[in-house]
Amino acid sequence: MLNTHTIKHHFPLFDRHPSLVYLDAGATCPKPQEVIAAEREYEEAFSTNVGRGLYPLAEATTERFEAVRSQVARFIGAESEREIIFTSGTTASLNLAAALLAPTLRSGDHIITTELEHHSNSLPWIELARHSSKGELAHTKNIPLRLIPFTEEGSIDTDQLIALIDSKTRIVALSALSNVFGTRNPITDIIKRIRNRNPETIVIVDAAQMAGHFPIDVAQWDADLVAFSGHKMYGPTGVGILFGKQALLETLRPTTFGGGMVVDACAEPTEYKESPFCFEAGTPNISGVIGLGAAITFLEHIGFETIRTHEKNLLTMTLTRLRENFGDQIHILGTDDIEKRGGLISFTLDHIHPHDLAQILGEHDISIRAGEHCAALLHRKLGLSATARVSFGIYNTEEDVEKLISGIKNARTLFDTKTPLHSSI
Ligand code: ALA
Repeated sequence: MLNTHTIKHHFPLFDRHPSLVYLDAGATCPKPQEVIAAEREYEEAFSTNVGRGLYPLAEATTERFEAVRSQVARFIGAESEREIIFTSGTTASLNLAAALLAPTLRSGDHIITTELEHHSNSLPWIELARHSSKGELAHTKNIPLRLIPFTEEGSIDTDQLIALIDSKTRIVALSALSNVFGTRNPITDIIKRIRNRNPETIVIVDAAQMAGHFPIDVAQWDADLVAFSGHKMYGPTGVGILFGKQALLETLRPTTFGGGMVVDACAEPTEYKESPFCFEAGTPNISGVIGLGAAITFLEHIGFETIRTHEKNLLTMTLTRLRENFGDQIHILGTDDIEKRGGLISFTLDHIHPHDLAQILGEHDISIRAGEHCAALLHRKLGLSATARVSFGIYNTEEDVEKLISGIKNARTLFDTKTPLHSSI
């Protein structure tokens, strides 16, 4: 069983800030010392490039780098390491997916995404549709984008999605776990239903908020492309993954050109390396990839069952304590069904703006996030300018939850409606 008091000491951040109550894993996770040590080891003892050098140190770096590719493939149930493209993060992965797929679109096709997406999984598709409507995509014009609404419990309205799938649905982009509602979408079931309607639709899954909290199984999902980041799963910032089914990747042309991705630059046409190498022009974030490997080892050492049990306990306790203390003054987004929730809770509280709440909690060393969480469409639909969000990691404790509750109570006393804002003279 996870001992959260000792595991905290794997994270140097908490040694530096002993009173910190960090409740913003949804934005980024603190890094365990194993990850920091692996990155440092690369910088201090290797510090050479990948895929280029013919001397032992560079060969050792390539070997370590490629070992992480295989490790990621195993971690997400991919068939082969050739299905793993290293990027700088989820945003880069989803933008790469859009750029790679743009030339495959034909007039009359359409793209579907949902109203609960993070901007990283809506803006690339909005831009793709916009460029096509201006005739800026080669061989293509007018690729409409259709937006699927969400249900009250914060999941994708699957029936509405499926009803829109037809022979012209080229791309469906959806998230596995909403970064605002915290609700998990039944990805395997949704993809199966999409395939029944149109087996040729390409399905892209944004798994940024799943990674590090739940196992990702791309084979079980049967997704064509899957994006996630290292830094939300205890790995470094600046490194991410785009998984792609090998058969699909082999049909796509690179969109970024430069060193390391070409076999013969003088050939006509230019001869590029096979995937995934043709999609990784330039020197990658080598220390980040090495650190990502250490993060996967760290996660596997703890185990997802343990992680999930721990997060469920914190979720149950937080939901209960929020409701006990703030009753009908608190409005919690998403479902009450813990089984459908990931480790985050967004809410609003009467009489105090989420920004004020986050700022006051911050002054007491309690870090939560407030705002639109890069999901403007979702907030606009709900008529909310902002929400407050707490999100958990394996280092959080029940004591953190109690401090959060006391912090919110204190913040509310500052905004007590009975206290006049201006005293009369
Ligand atoms: N996507 C991150 C979040 O939801 C930054 O906070």
